[in-house]
Amino acid sequence: MSESTPPDHADRAVHALPSAPVHTGHTSGRELVQLSGLRKVYNAGQPNEIEVLHGLDLRIRQGEFAALIGPSGSGKSTLLNVLGLLERGTAGEYVLAGQAISTLDDQALTRLRRDTLGFVFQFHHLLPAFTAEENVAMPVRVRDGVVSPRLRERARELLSAVGLSNAMDRKPSQLSGGMQQRVAIARALMLEPALVLADEPTGNLDTASSSEVFALLRRIHREVSTTFLVVTHDPRLAARCDRVIELVDGRISADGVPAAS
Ligand SMILES: Nc1ncnc2c1ncn2[C@@H]1O[C@H](COP(=O)(O)OP(=O)(O)OP(=O)(O)O)[C@@H](O)[C@H]1O
Ligand SMILES: [Mg+2]
Repeated sequence: MSESTPPDHADRAVHALPSAPVHTGHTSGRELVQLSGLRKVYNAGQPNEIEVLHGLDLRIRQGEFAALIGPSGSGKSTLLNVLGLLERGTAGEYVLAGQAISTLDDQALTRLRRDTLGFVFQFHHLLPAFTAEENVAMPVRVRDGVVSPRLRERARELLSAVGLSNAMDRKPSQLSGGMQQRVAIARALMLEPALVLADEPTGNLDTASSSEVFALLRRIHREVSTTFLVVTHDPRLAARCDRVIELVDGRISADGVPAAS
C-alpha cells in the first residue's frame, strides 16, 4: 500500500461531527429514489441515435447500501447521471426525495442536486491548487461564497473521520491515490447528502486501497443516515453490499441480496 500515514479513522466516528440534524424530513425506510419507466436516448432523431436505458423501474429506500453492477456499456454511468440530476431522462418518471424531477426547472434541479446528493467518481477531480481541507470545503465555498469557521471545522472533522488528520494541509499531488479518494469522499459528505452516488470509486486503486476505501464507505453508511449507490466491477466489493442491482443492455436483469461468495 502506498499510503505514507497510517489510517487513523478507527478512532473517529463520523457521527461525532458537529453538524445540523441529518436530513430532517427523511425518516428511515422512506423511499428516496422512485424511478419508473426511465428511458434514455442519446442523439435523438439523428443517424447515430441510441437508446441506452430501456424503461427502468427502480426504488431505493433511505438507508440502503446498494451496488450497481453490469458489463461495460450496459448503462451504469448513464443511470447514475440521471439519478444524480446531471442529465434528464428521455421518458419516465423520477421522484427524488419526494420531488418530481420533471416539474423542476434547471435552477431548482441544481439546488436539489446540491442539497440532496453527494458524488464520488473513479477519478477524484480534486482541485490541484487547493489543500485537502480546501477541497473538502469547496462545496460550501461554491454555495455560500465563503467558508464559515463552523463549516471549516466540519471539513477538518470529516478529514479526521476519513483518516487524514495529518494531511489536511497537503495538496492532492502530495497524497496517495487512496488518500485522494478519501478526500473526495469527505468532500461528497460536506453538505450532508441524503444519497451518495459513487461511480467506480475504487476503480483506480490497488486492491488494498480499494478494500480500505470501500470499508470507509460502509463505515460512513453505518454511522450517518446516508444512502449509497455504488457502481463497481469488483464482485468481491458487490458481495459486501446489502443489495446488488445488475444492469445488462440497459435493463435491470437482477436485483436482490448478493449471492453468497
Ligand atoms: N453522451 C453520450 N452520447 C452517446 N452515447 C452515449 C453517451 N454516453 C453514453 N453513451 C453510450 O451509452 C452506453 C452506456 O454507457 P455507460 O457509460 O452508461 O456504460 P457503463 O455501464 O457505465 O460502462 P462502463 O462500465 O464501461 O463504465 C454505451 O453504449 C455508450 O457508448
Ligand atoms: Mg461507467
